[in-house]
Amino acid sequence: MDDQSPRRTELTGTILVTGASGTVGHAVAEALAAVGETVVAGMRDPRAWLAESARRASGTAAGQQPDRAGGRPDRAGSQPDRSGSGRAPGAGRTGAGPLGKPSRAPNQKPSRSPAHKPAGRPGGSTAAGAAQPGGAAVATAADSSVTVRAFDFADRSTWARALAGVDRVFLLVPPTISDVGRTLLPFIDQAMEEADVEQIVFLSAPGVRFSHTSPHHAVEKYLKRTRAPHTVLRPTVLLQTLSTLYRDDIRRRSEIVLPAAGAKVAFVDADDVGRAAARVLTEPGHLGKAYSLAGEQALSYPQVAEILTAELGRPIRYTPTSEADFTDLAVKQGASAADVAAQAGWYRAARRRLVAVPNRSIRRLTGRPATGLREFVEKNRHSWQ
Ligand SMILES: NC(=O)c1ccc[n+]([C@@H]2O[C@H](COP(=O)([O-])OP(=O)(O)OC[C@H]3O[C@@H](n4cnc5c(N)ncnc54)[C@H](OP(=O)(O)O)[C@@H]3O)[C@@H](O)[C@H]2O)c1
Repeated sequence: MDDQSPRRTELTGTILVTGASGTVGHAVAEALAAVGETVVAGMRDPRAWLAESARRASGTAAGQQPDRAGGRPDRAGSQPDRSGSGRAPGAGRTGAGPLGKPSRAPNQKPSRSPAHKPAGRPGGSTAAGAAQPGGAAVATAADSSVTVRAFDFADRSTWARALAGVDRVFLLVPPTISDVGRTLLPFIDQAMEEADVEQIVFLSAPGVRFSHTSPHHAVEKYLKRTRAPHTVLRPTVLLQTLSTLYRDDIRRRSEIVLPAAGAKVAFVDADDVGRAAARVLTEPGHLGKAYSLAGEQALSYPQVAEILTAELGRPIRYTPTSEADFTDLAVKQGASAADVAAQAGWYRAARRRLVAVPNRSIRRLTGRPATGLREFVEKNRHSWQ
């Protein structure tokens, strides 16, 4: 990457987290709030999020039990991240995290099966306020430093409001977006030219350096070419894929069907990625750097199936498939082209052994060892029951 000067001072403004209703964005927003940062949680539909939050807060969720299946882990981890920046925790430290618990897996087959896309949004006991027209700041969690604002990469009219007062951005490519030329790239320009953004932390994806057609590759290249002050995070495959995207295959058919052949993957937990992102956003010295965020153990999918079998107490099998068959099936199930391409890319990277190498990046950045599969399954057992 470019040799950029490290930021010398800590910033004190607000951090916009894009994709905050999704798996990684939610983890980032929560980790930032846990270390006392002021966060703008950008999402396309704050009204649905807030309505769900309000229902949960008032206990009028129509007799619903919280749907924890496939949702995020119990937030024991929403206690202050004591290994974080060392700042006083912001708010919402007890019980639910600052953004509360999602009522669904944020990316639970969102596009592979849109008909089954859960309507709920992360709901928490702390959110208050009502959506206002125009996508302004619509709510602030009552006792937290998280503000929810309407933000849509595909709707430029939302950008300026989302960026107001922001000095850092956590940027990701939503699985709905393939044309970054009309979305993320002009958004980067606006963030740099019209807002006072001093750092963009970009969530990239595994193997994109070798996949020149991927939107993640285009964004990495653009950040570098425009010399925007940035940091790149490249997670391997998330453990959460097992509890969200492939949850139903495991729960209903006791099977994981992926084009990963016998490749090993050093899976990483989205919550660890969130804490790592919070660290690089809140301390100087990370500009111009790229981090490969991997777990500390590499597992093949047959080994993943063995662990799930042991932990869940019923046989789970792994069935390798071809990329073409995986793609056909995902498309038939309603996945968007962009989402299918991204997923296929992860397993291509796996087959090329690009995500097989464990590392200690999570431990180095967060001060905690990376979460392993067994621990993840123990925490999320309810997802597959
Ligand atoms: N999963 C993995 O194993 C893995 C590994 C490495 C890298 N990644 C990368 O991580 C990124 C995020 O993954 P994720 O698992 O967090 O995804 P996710 O759970 O599906 O979340 C995607 C987020 O993007 C939001 N979104 C969708 N369309 C949008 C738009 N037009 N404008 C603004 N926001 C929009 C969604 O919000 P709403 O739908 O609620 O509006 C949601 O909050 C992706 O780029 C992915 O390639 C994933």
